[in-house]
Amino acid sequence: MIHRIGLYDSGVGGLSVAREVRRALPRADMIYVADTCHVPYGGRPFSDIKAFSAGIGAFLMSRGIDLLIIACNVSSAVACGDLRNRYPGVPVVSMIEHGARAALEGRSVGILATEGTVKSGAYPAALRAMGFGGEVVQEACPEFVPLVEGSLLDTPECREACERHCSRVSHTDTVILGCTHYPLMGRRLRDCLPGCRIADPAVSVAESLSREESRGSGSLTCYTTGDRDSFEQTAALFVPGISAASVVWRDGCLEEDD
Ligand code: DGL
Repeated sequence: MIHRIGLYDSGVGGLSVAREVRRALPRADMIYVADTCHVPYGGRPFSDIKAFSAGIGAFLMSRGIDLLIIACNVSSAVACGDLRNRYPGVPVVSMIEHGARAALEGRSVGILATEGTVKSGAYPAALRAMGFGGEVVQEACPEFVPLVEGSLLDTPECREACERHCSRVSHTDTVILGCTHYPLMGRRLRDCLPGCRIADPAVSVAESLSREESRGSGSLTCYTTGDRDSFEQTAALFVPGISAASVVWRDGCLEEDD
């Protein structure tokens, strides 16, 4: 029985995960942290991402969550082990394991992700550990997160970046959307990958939870570490009417802003 779920990401990307999980667990209450004062995570040192994950993890745990979903691939890649060790009593869900599992049926796998996720090698390692023996191609797409966060999806710049990055993986038969911001790009990305099966780790996370029962009021409580108005504006494109409260970083800890 799942009552309260904590999720976090550098920005709006994790809402693509919240959206899928909501379908599986309609009554669970969700608490979402968007660390928008640090977005993008993808080009940052792993030590920063681990520190942000520790602070956000502690904040969410203090809210009494009974499931933590790391709705961020690069944080899943570098901080999941730390969080699992620190909170052995609460299941911690990694996007990497679910994304890799979703791609196993393919003969060749392309991975679109941030620089950090590519550099971590977490997806190829997970695929190999699950017995995948085919071709694996990784492509870092540093422009995508700023385009989503800046609501710049309908621009020539976005079209050009989608075409360029997708062309490097379009010969594979399965492409993992290895960053939670990418499903929010919708057809712009999918249209550049004709004939490829798209593996969205969020869908696979939701499937893994679909046999669980949920209780609660189905609420979504959002916090942002950055500018509240601009977070709400961008987030509302994906979750209409969404509102957020502010939290601030103090000495590595997140505190509610009053
Ligand atoms: N959405 C996150 C991910 O899945 C982080 C993107 C970023 O901030 O670079 O990797």
